[in-house]
Amino acid sequence: MFVEPQLSPSPEVHASARRAPAPPPALRVGMIGTGTVGSGVWRVLRRNQDLINARAGRAIEIVAVAARNTARAAAALDGAPGVRLLADPLQLAADPGVDVVLELAGGTGAARDWVQAALVHGKHVVTANKALLATHGEALAQTAARHGRVLAYEAAVAGSVPVIKALREGLAANRITALAGVLNGTSNYILTRMQAAGLGFAAALTEAQALGYAEADPAFDVDGTDAAHKLALLAANAFGMPVRLDAVHVEGIRDLQRGDVAAAAHLGYAVKLLAVAEQQECEGRVAIQLRVHPALVPARHPLALLDGATNGLLVHGDAAGSAFFSGAGAGSEPTASAVLADLIDLARLPAVSSPAPTGPGVPTLGTHRRAGNAPAVLPMAPVKTPHLLRLLPGAALCETAVLRALARDGVRVRRRTWAAPVTPGGAPELLLLTAPTPDALAAQATAHLQAYTGAQVRRLRVELCSAPTDEQ
Ligand SMILES: NC(=O)c1ccc[n+]([C@@H]2O[C@H](COP(=O)([O-])OP(=O)(O)OC[C@H]3O[C@@H](n4cnc5c(N)ncnc54)[C@H](OP(=O)(O)O)[C@@H]3O)[C@@H](O)[C@H]2O)c1
Repeated sequence: MFVEPQLSPSPEVHASARRAPAPPPALRVGMIGTGTVGSGVWRVLRRNQDLINARAGRAIEIVAVAARNTARAAAALDGAPGVRLLADPLQLAADPGVDVVLELAGGTGAARDWVQAALVHGKHVVTANKALLATHGEALAQTAARHGRVLAYEAAVAGSVPVIKALREGLAANRITALAGVLNGTSNYILTRMQAAGLGFAAALTEAQALGYAEADPAFDVDGTDAAHKLALLAANAFGMPVRLDAVHVEGIRDLQRGDVAAAAHLGYAVKLLAVAEQQECEGRVAIQLRVHPALVPARHPLALLDGATNGLLVHGDAAGSAFFSGAGAGSEPTASAVLADLIDLARLPAVSSPAPTGPGVPTLGTHRRAGNAPAVLPMAPVKTPHLLRLLPGAALCETAVLRALARDGVRVRRRTWAAPVTPGGAPELLLLTAPTPDALAAQATAHLQAYTGAQVRRLRVELCSAPTDEQ
């Protein structure tokens, strides 16, 4: 009888078979929210599954979704094949079959409970929710640290642009001295249209709403709140300070006139809604300015060149010098890109699925132990910037008398010019650019000038966006 020879593997084959590691288990993701961002995460994950898995070193799978309306959620996810649909996000936060919870619903009430519960149940959390982190970030970061879990939020600031990673990782060796950003796409779209098409604020807002760049209630964006949330998070990472939303000086763009934007352009500037955090020595201590307001930026500066809904951030570090980041600040897939980057980071952790804490890892707010006392936050009054004073005369205006009045208040004028009126038939406007002047002094001098000349005086801050100098 013919006996088939037994094929016994060579000793080398035995050894290599023993060495081949078992593929790591998939990272099991539970997602809350299947709207603009959630559906984008689903789409990009499916489209780029192979390369994402290869880069992550393991498969990343959305295994469960929590939604108020599970039928609607399934429809947003192409029927959600193989996904458990849950009606209660808290159930998902406690689900033993989930390693990471994605919070992509928004809000600061229920969302806080979900994120807190997920961390306590030993899950890592990825969120795009800047409002949540700006208001409850400190407490949630402490919960994450206590339970040895990661709370990641790259998508919460500047959408697709990896600014949190840049500050917390790429620039971690630097003493950051200042940062300035255009962080709200809605406001930037409106300002771009005011400048490019000469629209007033109301007309530019209506256009932004028609094109889906602004919500029906735009307050959160145009009044500066959204940019303030993002600035509070950036400052915590840049300066090792607590998240101080309460300390951010916030002014929006609602009161801007098209004449303000035209006057800025006449002098070679663009108007941007800027978020600025800057370190300053104050009576021997380090203090930080935190402010969001419209500001004139030199027209050729990279921040001034950001059009439409684009976001950008300029960072000054003592070792790196200046670094500039820009890109899509919102939208379904740009935001999903940042959410998935956080998921890939998590998938790369060796003990991601283990119930044991994953160790100190990357600190949620950029610093494990804050060095010394947290820096104080400067009020707006002493913050020095140059100012544009735009004088709209009701009657004849004597330039010399105006300059003398400003000098009496201690305000030096560096440049002055007359500009044609924005509205036909109006009087020419006197435009003055001051030397860097403390904010309270500039406000007081403006009020005096208005009373003295009878002209309407509009004041806008100027931000040179260069590395801080002693004079500023
Ligand atoms: N959109 C962007 O470009 C962008 C960019 C950066 C960051 N973000 C942030 O990402 C988050 C999500 O934004 P989004 O634009 O995707 O919002 P969205 O389109 O309104 O979607 C929100 C999703 O969350 C669900 N949801 C809301 N409350 C819920 C609850 N109590 N229980 C269960 N599900 C709930 C909604 O379900 P229903 O269908 O039942 O309402 C919807 O699926 C927000 O924090 C936002 O600030 C958004």
